[in-house]
Amino acid sequence: MIKGFIEKIMEMKDNLRRDNLLPHEKTIRSGNIQTVITEQYRLLRSRLSSLNGSHGNKVIAVTSTQKGEGKSITSVNLAIVMAEDTKKKVLLIDGDMRKPSIHAFFNCKSEYGLVDLLTNKIDIESILVPSGVNNLTILPAGGPVESPSDIIANPRFKEGIERLKKRFDYIIMDSPPIIPFADMNILGDIVDGILLVVKAETTPKERVVDALKSLNKENIIGVVLNDSKKRLTKIYY
Ligand SMILES: Nc1ncnc2c1ncn2[C@@H]1O[C@H](COP(=O)(O)OP(=O)(O)O)[C@@H](O)[C@H]1O
Ligand SMILES: [Mg+2]
Repeated sequence: MIKGFIEKIMEMKDNLRRDNLLPHEKTIRSGNIQTVITEQYRLLRSRLSSLNGSHGNKVIAVTSTQKGEGKSITSVNLAIVMAEDTKKKVLLIDGDMRKPSIHAFFNCKSEYGLVDLLTNKIDIESILVPSGVNNLTILPAGGPVESPSDIIANPRFKEGIERLKKRFDYIIMDSPPIIPFADMNILGDIVDGILLVVKAETTPKERVVDALKSLNKENIIGVVLNDSKKRLTKIYY
């Protein structure tokens, strides 16, 4: 349940928005991102770990009401600081099978991945990709599929996540947007908590409210207000 509003936790600078930057040049490891931004991600990480409570928050899905609000960039940079700061084993899953992008942030291929969790042919070991960051492993989305919603709704998806939970201390899942699919309703019950990214200047408030209505609010552990023009990012929970 969203209870209130707490202070600014991230500041995004214009250099991150330069169109000529490739995805892998936008991670906080690339050298293109100012220290202040890295620090804000660190703060987000520590806020999340202090939110432990009843959820445990071992598996966190990062979503937004619609595409293009910063789910992927938030997932990537959060996963990096989690791996670096906690020294625990972190897995970053690309769960946005309609618009996969995690592999591009790490400059690797997405030939096999999450979708292959549902085929017996491929062993989990062989679809995990090292990220180049200590303690951080990637599970790409894998090849294109006709119906990503069916994959998420398949009981084997949940089983796959349970297996991965045994091998990793934390799992961050870059997830589909809440609208227009029902994926997040299902995913919400599989993960321990949902982090909602809201782009303050573009996402109409009503849309956020509607999107939140469609989710079980107990699952939402925090909201990142991604407000790059005002160079302000806040979290409320
Ligand atoms: N706070 C921000 N500052 C600068 N660029 C941002 C910010 N948030 C998102 N972007 C950029 O906007 C685009 C969409 O972000 P992305 O993370 O891919 O969104 P989503 O995964 O929700 O579709 C990307 O090019 C990303 O680099
Ligand atoms: Mg994305």
